[in-house]
Amino acid sequence: MNDIQFDARGRLRHLLTLDGVDRQTLTNLLDRADSFRATPGESPRRHTWLAGRTVANLFFEPSTRTRASFELAARRLGADVLNLDIAASSAVKGESLEDTLYTLEAMNVDVFVVRHRDSGVPALLAQRALEHVHVLNAGESHVSHPTQGLLDAFTIRRHKPDLGKLSVAIIGDIKHSRVARSAVRALVTLGTRDIRLAGPKALLPKQGELKGELFTDADKAVAGADVVMMLRIQKERMQKAAVPSPAVYFKRYGLDGKRLALAKPNAIVMHPGPMNRGIEIAADVADGPRSVIREQVTNGVAMRMAVLQSFYT
Ligand code: NCD
Repeated sequence: MNDIQFDARGRLRHLLTLDGVDRQTLTNLLDRADSFRATPGESPRRHTWLAGRTVANLFFEPSTRTRASFELAARRLGADVLNLDIAASSAVKGESLEDTLYTLEAMNVDVFVVRHRDSGVPALLAQRALEHVHVLNAGESHVSHPTQGLLDAFTIRRHKPDLGKLSVAIIGDIKHSRVARSAVRALVTLGTRDIRLAGPKALLPKQGELKGELFTDADKAVAGADVVMMLRIQKERMQKAAVPSPAVYFKRYGLDGKRLALAKPNAIVMHPGPMNRGIEIAADVADGPRSVIREQVTNGVAMRMAVLQSFYT
């Protein structure tokens, strides 16, 4: 299935998953993103790599930052952007999904950015798409969120360039997290060996499903870590209440100053957003000096520009 994301020369034609994307390709994408990074307050440079191209955002699930950053990334590269408001329409599936693709292709859409609660949707669209069309996965069920994995790796690399030496703790609802899956995939490919995955037993993946050591004790996972990545509890992906009350959860797994003090003194704190302050992370930690949470958002635009540009160079 992953083969469909590469063209005959082995270049990325779609971005469906980070599985099977080698270290050199990942590194090239991160290097490209470096050149697109704009600090808030600067006016981002305008480019023409995608002039004359049309990018359609197909978000079948809610999104703030991912959707906005894909839109800004595409515009800053000179593309036209179409935002289809389909999250509200009921069960757009199977044939109708393909029909959406064909319809938009007929209007000269060249790139499809897709978020969907069902796994396999980005791959299905990639299989059906015309030769010149590119499909980008912007969040697929609990399975994969490749541009998030890239932007997380990019953010970590900016602060801690020697990825091979890092200890990374990811804490929260790992079981339902496409963010964790893609971050782990990117980090493993880039050489990180010490990955700790912590959460209540009911929210941990099966042993061996993801690379990393499983912890139910958050303090143990955070101890000595260089990077602490907090995740949201994804109630929308749970069958039934599998988590304790917010207050109990925060006590056991939330990142407050006391727990963060167990990490390395210069550890960075990450969160993909949306955050639940006071549930998985204390507000003062989220806004504190070790937090790179807003920088992740800044980097997300650059990272998405890099991926889009790579399709046209
Ligand atoms: C996440 C997502 O949708 O996968 N958010 C994001 O893309 N930044 C994580 C979440 O919903 O908790």
